[in-house]
Amino acid sequence: MTDSRATDPDESGPTAGSPAGAADLAAMRAHYVAEGIAEADFPADPFEQFGHWFARAAAEAADPTGVIHEPNAMVVSTADAQGRPSSRTVLLKGYDTRGFVFYTNYESGKARDIDANPHVSLLFPWHPMARQVIVTGTAERTGRDETVRYFRSRPHGSQLGAWASAQSSVIGSRAELDAAYAELAARHPEGEQVPAPPHWGGYRVVPDAVEFWQGRTDRLHDRLRYVREDASAPWTLQRLSP
Ligand SMILES: Cc1cc2nc3c(=O)[nH]c(=O)nc-3n(C[C@H](O)[C@H](O)[C@H](O)COP(=O)(O)O)c2cc1C
Repeated sequence: MTDSRATDPDESGPTAGSPAGAADLAAMRAHYVAEGIAEADFPADPFEQFGHWFARAAAEAADPTGVIHEPNAMVVSTADAQGRPSSRTVLLKGYDTRGFVFYTNYESGKARDIDANPHVSLLFPWHPMARQVIVTGTAERTGRDETVRYFRSRPHGSQLGAWASAQSSVIGSRAELDAAYAELAARHPEGEQVPAPPHWGGYRVVPDAVEFWQGRTDRLHDRLRYVREDASAPWTLQRLSP
């Protein structure tokens, strides 16, 4: 997808009030010329539709001239018990009709938030394709078997890294982290099975809404959102004003 966005030279001039030498953020905007999306083309459930868009994003990533890097990178937003939000990028490692799965440390900041408040959102920022997908739902831990299966598929170094890092805790220095890793590497040489840490595992985000956003000209974007009352209810497709 090479022509999903184009820059309008008429809109690149300076804006009053912007500091000299700074990027002119007020005038910085892309013009979307992408094809629209229609309700009639959308399947009954959002997972199938996600599969179509994900396949496009992944094909872009696989193509050396493609515009997407790490199509499975998504922004996970959580909120703590007081409603204070935070966001970070993680990698989608699986999805099916049960939900969207990522792996992390169960003692990290995001995990503490989820323990207090399971409501989360996921955002896939496929900007170069003028697309984004936003999922809202609740996060639940994957079963231990599923976690262990995925952990075993990770490279040896990443397995050790999961043990070496008390994710999101304050540490004294980089040297401290490197020493912890070196000690683990000596204990578990390459080729040896590393057990999955008990404080590490997956979350499955079970969606209650999935929005597909397609950028269009004149900011008249297409937004189609699947919603359902609960995980056993059927999906309804809605069109949202841009
Ligand atoms: C491209 C990218 C992919 C990442 N993937 C993961 C991931 O799959 N799991 C994870 O725990 N952190 C991942 N991170 C690091 C997180 O963004 C974050 O720094 C970390 O999870 C700690 O977040 P927290 O303190 O909010 O819990 C990734 C970061 C980037 C930039």
